[in-house]
Amino acid sequence: MIFDELRPKIQKLIQEQHISVTDRLHQICVLLKEEVAHYDWVGFYFKNGDKKELKLKTYVGAPTDHEIIPFGKGICGQVAESNQNFVVPDVQAQDNYIACSISVKSEIVIPLFKNGENIGQIDIDSNQKDPFTEADERFLEFVNKEAAKML
Ligand code: SME
Repeated sequence: MIFDELRPKIQKLIQEQHISVTDRLHQICVLLKEEVAHYDWVGFYFKNGDKKELKLKTYVGAPTDHEIIPFGKGICGQVAESNQNFVVPDVQAQDNYIACSISVKSEIVIPLFKNGENIGQIDIDSNQKDPFTEADERFLEFVNKEAAKML
């Protein structure tokens, strides 16, 4: 199972303290996009200071216009308020969705907690329809938990 192979690689990467936090987050994006066939765009958004908005910190995949997302808007903005995982098997069937690219068919957003506070999220788009399972959710929760250690 690819996720079992990726877990130790993520842990190792996060411990590379000579690499900046942003670069380590970026390397996580690179690793996930390269190794997981159904991950086509991988990025981290974080709360933008005191503002009720998310700001894109780093990503891999097609460029997006949505570097800032207000809380409540789109899948990402909803996760900022709900603190819950959000899996969208078919983005065309989803209300309150912000389209980034016409090739995207599905999306998963997992909140990232630091000391119990929802400070950001990992956002993944797939060009496949309905590819995400509970294994993706558990794995991405792990990734965020590890990432939180360096934030
Ligand atoms: N689709 C997201 C917007 C971010 S892009 O996927 C990069 C949303 O609805 O919040």
